[in-house]
Amino acid sequence: MNSVITGNFRPPFFPSQLSKNSARFLFRPFTTLVFTRSLTAKVRAFVETKPTAPIAVEKEESGGGGGSCGLACPICYNPLTVISDSPIYVGSTVGSNLQCNTCKKTYSGTQTHLDLVASSGSKQYDESMPLATELFRTPVVSFLYERGWRQNFVFGGFPGPEKEFDMAKNYLKRVLGGKIVDASCGSGMFTRLFAKSGLFSQVIALDYSENMLQQCYEFIEQEENFPKEKVTLVRADISRLPFESSSIDAVHAGAALHCWPSPSTAVAEISRVLRPGGVFVATTYIVDGPFTFLPFVNAFRQNMMGIAGSYFAVSERELEDLCRTCGLVGFTCMRNGPFVMISARKRSS
Ligand SMILES: C[S@@+](CC[C@H](N)C(=O)[O-])C[C@H]1O[C@@H](n2cnc3c(N)ncnc32)[C@H](O)[C@@H]1O
Repeated sequence: MNSVITGNFRPPFFPSQLSKNSARFLFRPFTTLVFTRSLTAKVRAFVETKPTAPIAVEKEESGGGGGSCGLACPICYNPLTVISDSPIYVGSTVGSNLQCNTCKKTYSGTQTHLDLVASSGSKQYDESMPLATELFRTPVVSFLYERGWRQNFVFGGFPGPEKEFDMAKNYLKRVLGGKIVDASCGSGMFTRLFAKSGLFSQVIALDYSENMLQQCYEFIEQEENFPKEKVTLVRADISRLPFESSSIDAVHAGAALHCWPSPSTAVAEISRVLRPGGVFVATTYIVDGPFTFLPFVNAFRQNMMGIAGSYFAVSERELEDLCRTCGLVGFTCMRNGPFVMISARKRSS
């Protein structure tokens, strides 16, 4: 079959077609709990549904023959060029759509997203990310995410996407009209809210999970009068962002910091891509209290997070320190139980 899906994209749910990583986690007890017969049918229906129309990648004109798309090579961070005379639509061209003029590496667009991880295009090489990253790559978790999984965050004090969006907007006032990255966008709840708000010139939805990006695509497809021309869906690792330094006005990361393999590498990378004065706003879980001042409790907590591969229990002081050490200033923090929304900005030169 001449599939329109290329690269590392692995949508099918059937075990024989699962990636090594997805399969590993699918058969763990946690996921098998939710792996019921009726669910299987629904997930099959989801993965068998082919996206109907492509999502536009905004094309900015450059001086050369090709167009600059505002994206950069995740290997050398130099700009990528659109190697086509016509506007590029994700999914409209199977094969190489973007090229790095320095590395000469080409990057492909699938029907749903651009694949801009460093290993994009590799045929043999694969690597495991920590559990908190791999979990969200599984088709079943991606499918369930906006169908109940995310709603459970209310028990951790998360006010819900609409309220969180309103809160985030307060921190983003100084960068309205600019380019925002919805980092670790998942199924795109905030991507859609950012795009429909009309408050930003471009919204880049970025996630490491191919299946989350497919969900994001599908939800956008279901929206009427959605401003697709403003939205780009990109697969990338938060530790290796496909943007030039100082090229982004804002980075939003909802409920994701605790899922990142190395929050410090991620925040440093976010700091790199933000322009001076650019804003980082994120939500995560926080664990704080008098006991966190005790050195042995702190060491135990940090070791547990290391074993779990998830930074779900950082303290407010640690988050502030993390932002500061990565070059972000003006730290703010709004809390509701374990829920926290933080913001900081890149120092203006
Ligand atoms: C809990 S979901 C949050 C989704 C959404 N932002 C929200 O607010 O509901 C965490 C997301 O982080 C993504 N993620 C985990 N590790 C990542 C990495 N290394 N790079 C980029 N995204 C990653 C997962 O794929 C998942 O979609």
